[in-house]
Amino acid sequence: MTAKPLLRVLAGETVSPPPIWLMRQAGRYLPEFRALRAQADFITRCMTPDTATELTLQPIRRFGMDGAILFSDILILPWSMGQQLAFIEGTGPVLEPIRTAADIVRLRSGERAERMAPVMQTLRRLRDTLDAPGEIGVGRGGQTTLIGFAGAPFTVACYMVEGGGSRDFAITRGMAFSEPALFDRLIDLLIEATAAMLCEQIEAGAEAVMLFDSWSGLLPPSQFERYVIAPTRAIVQAIRAVHPQTPIIGFPRLCGVLAGRYAALTGIQAIGLDTGADLGLVATQLPQGMAMQGNLDPLCLIAGGLPLAQETRAIRAAMAGRPHIFNLGHGVLPQTPVEHVQNLVELVRRA
Ligand code: CP3
Repeated sequence: MTAKPLLRVLAGETVSPPPIWLMRQAGRYLPEFRALRAQADFITRCMTPDTATELTLQPIRRFGMDGAILFSDILILPWSMGQQLAFIEGTGPVLEPIRTAADIVRLRSGERAERMAPVMQTLRRLRDTLDAPGEIGVGRGGQTTLIGFAGAPFTVACYMVEGGGSRDFAITRGMAFSEPALFDRLIDLLIEATAAMLCEQIEAGAEAVMLFDSWSGLLPPSQFERYVIAPTRAIVQAIRAVHPQTPIIGFPRLCGVLAGRYAALTGIQAIGLDTGADLGLVATQLPQGMAMQGNLDPLCLIAGGLPLAQETRAIRAAMAGRPHIFNLGHGVLPQTPVEHVQNLVELVRRA
C-alpha cells in the first residue's frame, strides 16, 4: 500500500492534486455537528471519546478529507493542568487568569496526563476506524491521515494570562516585557506539557501533529525569537527524540516576513500559512522543498462561486510542482454553506 497522500507531502513529495483538509472542519457549519452540539457542553464533548470520535469523523464522511484533525481544543491543555475553563455561548473561552507566580504554582501539571486520558482514547479509536478495511467513505480506504495538535506556548499563554480571547492580548504582551522571568516560567511549563502531550497523542495514533501559534504575529521580532521560535524548537526537539518519524506542522499565524526564520530554525517539516501570505513569495524564503499548507481565505469559502474557483486556482498555480497541502488560512466560519466546502474539495481534486 502506498503511503497516505498527506504523509507523502509532509515527507517532501509533490502530490497532484494536493491533499486537502480544513482547519475547523468539524464545526457549526455542519448540521450533523449542530445536532450533537445541543447534547453536551464543549469540554464534555471533547472529553467523551464516543462524541469526540464522531465529531472528528463527520467531515471525513461527508467530504472524504485527506486529514482528520482530532476534535478537541488548544485550551484543553491548561484545563488539564487545573486552570478553570468554560466556553460561553457568544463570548468564547473564559479562563481564571494567571497573573502571578502563585497562580503558576497553583497549576497542577502532575494531573495533566490523567485528565487528558480520554483524548488519547479518542485518538486510538479514530486510528482504528480510519485504517479499518472496509471503512471506505470514512477514511477513504485508509487514505486519511490522523492529525493531533496543540496550541504553541505563546498562543496558549495568551489565553491563560488574559483569561479569554482578546483583540490584542495586551496584558499578556505587557507581562512578557515587564515580568520576563514570570512569563518565561509560564512558557517553560507549557513547553514541557505540550511536548509530553504531543508524544502521548503520537503514541495513541496521531500520524502528524500541528502546533497552532495563532497570535505569534503580535510579537516584535526579538520576542518572536524568544517566545515563538525557541519554544517551538524545544518542542520539536523533544518530540523528535522520542518519535523521529512523526511530521510536525507549524502554524505561526500572521508572522509575515518571519516565516523564513521560523521555518529554518524550528525544525518543523511543514509550515501552515495564513490568508495574508503570498505563497509564491514565502516559498522563496523557506528551506528547499519544505511542505506548505494553506491558505484560502475562509471568507472566500463563504462567498463561493467564481471568487472561490479563482482563488483556488491561484493557490494551486502558485504551489504547482511543490509539496502542498490545500487548506484555509484560518478556520472554517460557522456561516459557511456546506455546499461550498463540497465545491472546494471537488475544485482541488479536479486535475
Ligand atoms: O479544527 C478542528 O476542527 C479541530 C478542533 C479544534 C477546535 N479548536 C475546536 C473548537 C482546533 C484545532 C481548535 C484550535 C483553536 N482553539 C485555536 C487555534 C486556531 C485558531 O482558530 O486560531 C484557538 C485560538 C482556539 C481557542 C478557541 N476555541 C476559541 C477562541 C473558541 C471560541 C470561538 C469559536 O469559534 O467558538 C473555541 C471554541 C471551539 N474550538 C469550538 C470548536 C469546534 C466551538 C465550540 C462550540 O461552540 O461548539
